Amino acid sequence: MRRGFGVFGKVRVTRRALQEGAGWYTVCMPMHTPLPDLISLQGQVAVVTGAGRGIGRGIAVRLAEAGAAVVVVDRDEVEAASVADEIRGTGAAAHAVQADVSDEAAVRSLVRATCDDLGGIDVLVNNAGIFPSCPVLQMETADFDRVLAVNLRGVFLCTRETALAMVDRGRGGAIVNVTSIDALHPSMVGLAHYDASKHGVWGFTKNVALELAPHGIRVNALAPGGVLTPGVAEMGAGSDEAVAAFAAGIPEGRMGDPDDIARAALFLASDMSSYMTGTQVVVDGGALLA
Ligand SMILES: NC(=O)c1ccc[n+]([C@@H]2O[C@H](COP(=O)([O-])OP(=O)(O)OC[C@H]3O[C@@H](n4cnc5c(N)ncnc54)[C@H](O)[C@@H]3O)[C@@H](O)[C@H]2O)c1
Repeated sequence: MRRGFGVFGKVRVTRRALQEGAGWYTVCMPMHTPLPDLISLQGQVAVVTGAGRGIGRGIAVRLAEAGAAVVVVDRDEVEAASVADEIRGTGAAAHAVQADVSDEAAVRSLVRATCDDLGGIDVLVNNAGIFPSCPVLQMETADFDRVLAVNLRGVFLCTRETALAMVDRGRGGAIVNVTSIDALHPSMVGLAHYDASKHGVWGFTKNVALELAPHGIRVNALAPGGVLTPGVAEMGAGSDEAVAAFAAGIPEGRMGDPDDIARAALFLASDMSSYMTGTQVVVDGGALLA
C-alpha cells in the first residue's frame, strides 16, 4: 500500500488509474459498518437527566438496551433509584444519582463522580424540564426564573461540565438536548416562559454544535410533540377526554409515547446519526403540520 493511502477511521482511501490514463485520482469509500454496530452503545457511558419518569425514563431504558451503562439523574431520588433498579433488572448497568440540574455544584459533582467511577461520559441527554402553565399577565418573576433555571441553565451547566470532560478525554461524544415543538411554534397560551426556555435551548444547541464539532462531539436537539407522561398528567392533560381531544388535532391521531421519543434519542446518541450535528429532530406525529 502506498504511503498516505489506506484506512482512515471510517473511510477507505484508494487510488485508481483513470480509464484514459490521464493520471490518478483519489477515491474515498465509506467502510460498511454493520447496522447492529451503528446503533450499539456497548462500552459507552450515558448520562440522562430527568430520567426518573416520563420521556427521560424511556430514553434511559433504550440507551441501556443499546449497551450503555446509564446514569439515571433526577431531582427525585426515589424515582431515579427505581428506574436504575428496573434497568439493572434487564441485566444492563445503571446508576442512580440525585441532582438538580440547575444547581452548579450538584452538576459538577455528578460529572466528576461519573468520570471517576465509570471512566468518562460518551453520551449526555439533557432531558430534565418543567412546564408549569401560567399566563404571562399573572406570571411572577420567580415563576419565569425557575423555568429558565431548570430548562435552559440546567442544559448549559450539564453541557459545559460534560463537554469539558469529553474534550479532556479526547474520544468525542454525543449530546442530545430535549427541546419541544414549542421551540418552533407555541402550542398553547400559558407557556411563554417554557417556550422562551426551549427556543433558548435550540439556539444554544446550534452554537455549541459549532464549537464542539472539532472535538468530535455532536450536539443535536430532539423536539417532542405531545407525549403522555406523568408531568403532562399532572398538568391535568392526562384524562381520557383530554387525551382524546389532543389526539384529534394530531395527524397520526394519537399522543406520543415516551418510547417514540426514546427511539429518536437513541438514533441521535448513536453512530446512526454520525454526520448530524446542530440539527433539531421533530417527533410529533405531524402536529406541527396541523
Ligand atoms: N411530555 C410532553 O408532551 C413533552 C413535549 C415536549 C417536550 N417535552 C420535554 O421532555 C422533557 C421530559 O418531559 P416529561 O413529560 O417526561 O416530564 P415529567 O414531568 O413526566 O418528567 C420529568 C422528570 O424530570 C425531573 N426533573 C424536573 N426538574 C428537574 C431538575 N431540576 N433536576 C433534575 N431532574 C428534574 C422530574 O423529577 C421528572 O422525573 C422535558 O424537557 C419537557 O419539556 C415533553
